[in-house]
Amino acid sequence: MSVYDVVPVSVSDYRRRARWRLPRFLFDYIDGGANDETTMARNISDFACYQLRQRVLRDVSQVDTATTLLGHAAALPIALAPVGMAGMMARRGEVQAARAAQRAGIPFSASTVGICPVEEIQAALRAPFWFQLYMLRDRDFVLQMLARAETAGCDTLVFTVDLPVAGMRLRDFRNGMLGGGIKGKLSQVAQLLTSPGWVWDVGIKGKPHSFGNLSDKVADPEDLQSYKAFVDSQFDPAVTWQDIRWLRDHWQGKLLLKGLMEVDDARASVDSGADGVVVSNHGGRQLDGIASSISKLPAIAEAVGEQIEVYLDGGVRSGIDVVKALALGAHGVMLGRPWVWAMAARGEQGVFDMLDVFRREIATAMALVGVNRVDQLNAELIESGRGFN
Ligand code: FNR
Ligand code: LAC
Repeated sequence: MSVYDVVPVSVSDYRRRARWRLPRFLFDYIDGGANDETTMARNISDFACYQLRQRVLRDVSQVDTATTLLGHAAALPIALAPVGMAGMMARRGEVQAARAAQRAGIPFSASTVGICPVEEIQAALRAPFWFQLYMLRDRDFVLQMLARAETAGCDTLVFTVDLPVAGMRLRDFRNGMLGGGIKGKLSQVAQLLTSPGWVWDVGIKGKPHSFGNLSDKVADPEDLQSYKAFVDSQFDPAVTWQDIRWLRDHWQGKLLLKGLMEVDDARASVDSGADGVVVSNHGGRQLDGIASSISKLPAIAEAVGEQIEVYLDGGVRSGIDVVKALALGAHGVMLGRPWVWAMAARGEQGVFDMLDVFRREIATAMALVGVNRVDQLNAELIESGRGFN
């Protein structure tokens, strides 16, 4: 695609536009993963290990992509995943994406380390949204954040369990995104010079750039490098299943545990009172060298899918991927990078249009595998003898 092409029609089209628009350190923060990025790449390439079956003559005149996600009607089996610092990629980015999600009829998840506070998102919406929590050492502050989220209308808590420490994102170090001293700062200035559109629209007009939900906690919120220091000093690596029970006692709404990859952990999630799990390796940003999330999905869905809702994220790049994930047992999927690229490229409208691409792709794939409803997608529609099971 060249920048002269009129309509972005795929996730990779949006990615290319985001690359063109963002300063490199921000593009790489989204685009990158941990270490050699092998797990990140596998999240995508392993979708090709599963093949759908083409079924014919089954009256697919009533194809409907709608479902329910943790008790709410949703137009698609998709939620927008929590993404930290989204408000650095487009002006008041979390608000734009939440609006797009609302228009598309799906949930938006606000990250603990988002730029826009939950109150700002609430003011822009009519529907409830999801709040993602990282456990901080200061439990009183965690309770305050939960109270704020609840007051702002969040009825689902996404508790992320795969980040007791931050993974080694080499691109971020290389680009001076996280540290790098004076050389890092100079490198960032040079990167900004090549992105004048972003500097005006987001860098200047998109302020404040503080972490809206953590305003009292980050020493110098205008300085993104303080984010790494914040994670290192405040994220609590001592979290255990005990804390899930504590959380369950303090959160009345739905609880989704995000970042599980093993069947035992999914079973323990059921025992700890979770309403759902997200099979996820954090988009390959944490432990490099582990399996793709899609390859881990079938066993987990088989083990706990009857009791709680099983979601998948990591590498979902098309409606066909969504249909494969559902056929392999997911109740729904989350999209991470795709919505951030679309938002960086074209703001709210970009996210909405991209979700519409997913909607059309899901509906088309459903018709061509011969089903009308998402709950008819099952393992019989996946070619056997392939994949990982
Ligand atoms: C993330 N992810 C994430 N997860 C979370 O629970 N809280 C967060 O603040 C963030 N922040 C974040 C920032 C960026 C830039 C990315 C790319 C990802 C992980 C995210 O929710 C999701 O698990 C992955 O992005 C899914 O993989 P794909 O869809 O990006 O391949
Ligand atoms: C990340 C953190 C914010 O993946 O979850 O960058």
